[in-house]
Amino acid sequence: MSADQLSVYEAIRQRRDVRAEFTGEVIDDETLMRLLTAAHQAPSVGNSQPWDFVIVREPDTLRRFADHVADMRVAFRESLPADRAATFDPIKIEGIVESGTGIVVTHDDSRGGPQVLGRASVPETGVYSTVLAIQNLWLAATAEQVGVGWVSFYDPEILRELVGLPAGIKPIAWLCVGPVDHFQEVPDLERFGWRSGRPLAAAIHHERFGANTDSGEPN
Ligand SMILES: Cc1cc2nc3c(=O)[nH]c(=O)nc-3n(C[C@H](O)[C@H](O)[C@H](O)COP(=O)(O)O)c2cc1C
Repeated sequence: MSADQLSVYEAIRQRRDVRAEFTGEVIDDETLMRLLTAAHQAPSVGNSQPWDFVIVREPDTLRRFADHVADMRVAFRESLPADRAATFDPIKIEGIVESGTGIVVTHDDSRGGPQVLGRASVPETGVYSTVLAIQNLWLAATAEQVGVGWVSFYDPEILRELVGLPAGIKPIAWLCVGPVDHFQEVPDLERFGWRSGRPLAAAIHHERFGANTDSGEPN
């Protein structure tokens, strides 16, 4: 099935957070532009389009970020009780160097001026918009057999410094982006026993939150 034929439901079903399945090939610029075009077509509050994309391919920058994330992984591991630390140990949390391309997605809350239509009482709608751009990119990548891995084990100030973000521009994600030969069927965190998903029926409520889910569970 070509990317054009993959239905949106199939792309949603196949999408995975990718860490270990990058082929080592670097995504070509044409495909990358299609993914960024998809991201840039996302809905945004007040049509503010508050996102930017910093494409990082310098091996030295990828290495430096990977080293920082490795330090953050150690710090998180140290915060865990022994049994959780043992479960966490085999889980890979990034593919920064292997993917060959990082996209730092940033957010500018001042984009769109002082009166952003729709953001007056819910300021988070700005960041929600940037996250929707990420999801568009992630699904488009899946349709192209390109893997995406979202890395959030970082100190935002260190990432800001690494890619030269000016004051007021907030880093939202580091995305590892690169070709894969397959996607895992089951999310890594489930495969490694860290946390499984909950059934949809437990997330659906009727009329009032918590009163009555389809699963009969109280949460
Ligand atoms: C906001 C956000 C931050 C995430 N940060 C990380 C991360 O730092 N490292 C990692 O390995 N996965 C990260 N993930 C991926 C999740 O672990 C993953 O989406 C989840 O386990 C479900 O798996 P799936 O995406 O393959 O369905 C992140 C996902 C989101 C949405």
